[in-house]
Parts: sequence; structure tokens; C-alpha cells
Amino acid sequence: MPDPEQSKIAAPTPAGLAEAPPKRVHIKSYGCQMNVHDAERMADVLSGEGYVTTEDSAEADLVILNTCHIREKASEKVYSELGRLRVTKTAREAEGKQTMIAVAGCVAQAEGAEIIRRQQAVDIVVGPQSYHRLPDLVRSAQGRKAIDTEFPEEDKFSYLPPPSAKRLMTRGPSAFLTVQEGCDKFCAFCVVPFTRGAETSRAMPAILEEARQMVAAGVREIMLLGQNVNAYHGADAAGGTADLARLFEALSAIDGLERLRYATSHPCDMQTSLIEAHRDNSKLMPYLHLPVQSGSDRILKAMNRRHTRDFYARIIADVRAARPDIALSSDFIVGFPGETDQDFEDTMALVRETGFAAAYSFKYSPRPGTKSAEGADDVPEAVKNARLQALQALLMEQQNAFNRATIGRTLEVLFEKPGRHAGQVTGKSPYLQAVHIDAGSPEAARALIGTIAKVEIIELSSNSLHARLVSPEAKGGRAA
Ligand code: SAH
Ligand code: SF4
Ligand code: F3S
Repeated sequence: MPDPEQSKIAAPTPAGLAEAPPKRVHIKSYGCQMNVHDAERMADVLSGEGYVTTEDSAEADLVILNTCHIREKASEKVYSELGRLRVTKTAREAEGKQTMIAVAGCVAQAEGAEIIRRQQAVDIVVGPQSYHRLPDLVRSAQGRKAIDTEFPEEDKFSYLPPPSAKRLMTRGPSAFLTVQEGCDKFCAFCVVPFTRGAETSRAMPAILEEARQMVAAGVREIMLLGQNVNAYHGADAAGGTADLARLFEALSAIDGLERLRYATSHPCDMQTSLIEAHRDNSKLMPYLHLPVQSGSDRILKAMNRRHTRDFYARIIADVRAARPDIALSSDFIVGFPGETDQDFEDTMALVRETGFAAAYSFKYSPRPGTKSAEGADDVPEAVKNARLQALQALLMEQQNAFNRATIGRTLEVLFEKPGRHAGQVTGKSPYLQAVHIDAGSPEAARALIGTIAKVEIIELSSNSLHARLVSPEAKGGRAA
């Protein structure tokens, strides 16, 4: 799953709380898109308690670090951040202000009380399956520590308040919706089955209801989230089970919902029905993030990925047969224990043969509790660095080639937010490329947000495609 460095969630002040000084919460999120979305839901649940979000941790009564455990670097970042927060907490204390510090997310799940042992300033530790209990935890953490890293019986989604239309609007026309969580695959390197727990799917009716509310609030694109989203098998209204393709079909029937995406998928769960959905469902965007990790059968086996390189190639061929223009993306790990030059060459060859539009690549990081951490981390750091550099250079070349190939083409873009310069507006192409246009004025730019328009791609600039408007609102939905 893409791993944005970190993100901050901002939301408006709820109406009707103007007189009492509002309590402020600052949430900083690390890791994957699911964590970003969890942070949004934490803000929702706390808004019911009168909390408004702030970008400034120094003015926050409650600071939440929503953490990621996937690699050592991500995990250790938390402790340096906590050190800084302790200084803020002490400074605010001198002014008579209380600051509560909470650690949420996957480090919270993995390390529990150990976090408080390492950093006494922490008041609350809450795992990814328990954050619906945040209001209670905040109350019980007055003067003592509160820890909740259970995998509760109840489904947190039935306890989380639906985000208000107003809050949804501030997050833009493209939104996340969690449909599946947890993982039973146990890849040898990965902490996710431990931090997120066993694989579960939400029931289809609840998902459809949430989607309808989102669309009523102005959402035009929904990205379905799950650690293994294509393993989705949720209960349907008739007492049966629906797979992801059927969920897409049901979601497609919602008027005003124009685009569907999903992440992250495992090659072994890439069923025929889902591949066919890429051919038959016009709302399903032509983009597939399908992590492969390595191109060497030997390493794939050691990683417990449960498939061969050939199997991956066959899936890709089937997907391309169903949707020839699909943009492919993947995750790679270099320097897995025992990876030889030849194994790495096999990965490079797989990349050359496949052709990716985007990709994420990482150096292997041994993680506590995982199978591969039991053995030696035996690829020297210098070798890992050299392999990562070579792989990233090749992937970047492919990404640029993919983007260049869209120059001169007319594509539909869903505009999401103002661009970097005044009068600009940016959005995403069907292939998840960032595209910006000059709308002429800030007002014209704002008016385009939430619309899907045809644009002609003109040129490749540093991290976005520059385009010009051909015709606004190509799809029949409402304009912003
Ligand atoms: N659910 C996702 C994985 C999330 S982790 C999936 O199955 O694709 C995102 C990516 O981080 C993984 O695909 C993998 O490439 C990388 N990763 C996971 N554990 C790692 C580790 N121990 N060292 C380095 N990279 C790792
Ligand atoms: Fe981790 Fe593998 Fe599960 Fe993905 S499929 S979350 S990499 S164990
Ligand atoms: Fe990180 Fe947990 Fe996501 S470990 S990548 S935040 S599932």
C-alpha cells in the first residue's frame, strides 16, 4: 500500500460550539492510506466530544500520533516526535494548560505499554481496532494512563459516527472507505497480520449506506481500502457473501458516484470476477496496485508470498487483456535475507517485462515478531542501497515514460483542490496521475472542484501533468 510519509488532518469547527472555548486535537498520521483514513475517523469520533482539529500541536489539548510499524525507520520516528511533544507538554503545563498525548495506530498495537515505559509523557495508547473508544479513553486518562490494544469483539465501524456532510466536504470529492481490514497471509517480513489482526470484511449493506451518505455530501470518487482488499468477502443483504467485483457492481449503481478505486491487493486474490470488472465496469478506474515484492521465485518462496513470478505475469497479462490501458503499480523489497545479485536481477527483469506506471520500493527492514527477523539480515547495507538505487532509477524511467505517453491525449480529470499557484486547480486522471490546469482565476478554479472535466495533457512538469481544459463536467453529476 502506498506509504505517504505523513499527513495532517484538518477539519472545520462544528457549528454551535462558538461560545465555549473548543478543545483542540492535533492528529499526525504516518504510514498507509488506511492510517490516513483512520485519522479522519478519529477526528469524527472526537468532534462528537466537542474537539476541533488544529494543525498546530502547540495549541492542542490532545495530540494523537497515528503511527506505522511497517519498517524500523517509520517506527522509530514516533519516539523522536514524542520527545518533541514532551517539551511542548511541559511548556504548556507552565502556562497552566493540560496536554494529553495519545499514541494510536500500528506501533501502539505492537508495543502497547512499552511506549509509556519509553516515554512517560504519553497518556493514552490505543490500537487500530479500538479507536472508537477514544472518548472513553480520554476521560479515563485524567491523571492516569489508559491503554487499549485489544482486538475487540465489536466492529468499530458500528460505533463510529458517520462523518457529517460538512466534514466530508472539507476532505474533497475523492474519499476513502474501509471495506476490509487485517490480513491472514503472514508474509515473512510483515507486521500487518500482528498489528491489524485477522482478515475481516464489512457487510455490504453498511458499506453501501456509507457510500450513499458520502455521495450525498458531494463525494464523486471512492477508494475502497483494505490491507488485502481483493480478499473482500462481506455479507450481503440476502444472507450470502459478496466478493469485491459484486461490491463494485452495487456501488456503481449509486447515482453521482463516478469513480471507484481500491487498494491494496494481493496477487493470489486477483479473481476472475475482479479482472472482468476491469473490463465491464466503466466506473472502476484503470489502475491496479498489485505488490509483487520480488521477481525471484526463490525469494518469493522465502517471503511466503504463495505465488511464483510466472503466476504474477499471468495475472498481469489477464488484467491487460481485460483493460489494455490499465496503469500498473507495485511494491518492491530489496535486500531480503539471502537475496543474491541474480535474485535482484530477476526483480529488475520482471520490472522491465511488466512496465509500471508507478511503484514503491523499500530496503528490507527486519521487524520484531516476523518470521524473517528470526534469521540474519545478511545483505550488507551498501548492497541494499545500490540495489534500491538501481531499481528506483528503472521504475522512475518507466513512470516518466508512462506519463509522457499521455501528452497530447484527452483525459477526464476529477478536480480535487486548488493548485500550487493562484488560479490553478489540480485533480487526478483515471490513471491516478496528478494533473493541474490554469483555471484563470481562484474563483474559476474553485468552481471546478468536484467536477470531472475533459482536459488535454500538454506537458510533464516536476510532479504533476500540466493540462488545458477541453470541456467541463463530462459526467452528468452535480458541479460544486
Ligand atoms: N497490505 C499491503 C502491505 C502493506 S505494507 C500488501 O499486502 O501489499 C506496504 C509495503 O511495505 C509492502 O508491500 C512491502 O513492500 C513493504 N514492507 C512491508 N514490510 C516490510 C519490511 N519488513 N521491510 C521493508 N519493506 C516492507
Ligand atoms: Fe503484509 Fe503480506 Fe498481508 Fe500484505 S499480504 S499485509 S505484505 S502479510
Ligand atoms: Fe503501517 Fe500499519 Fe499501515 S504498519 S503501513 S500503518 S497497516
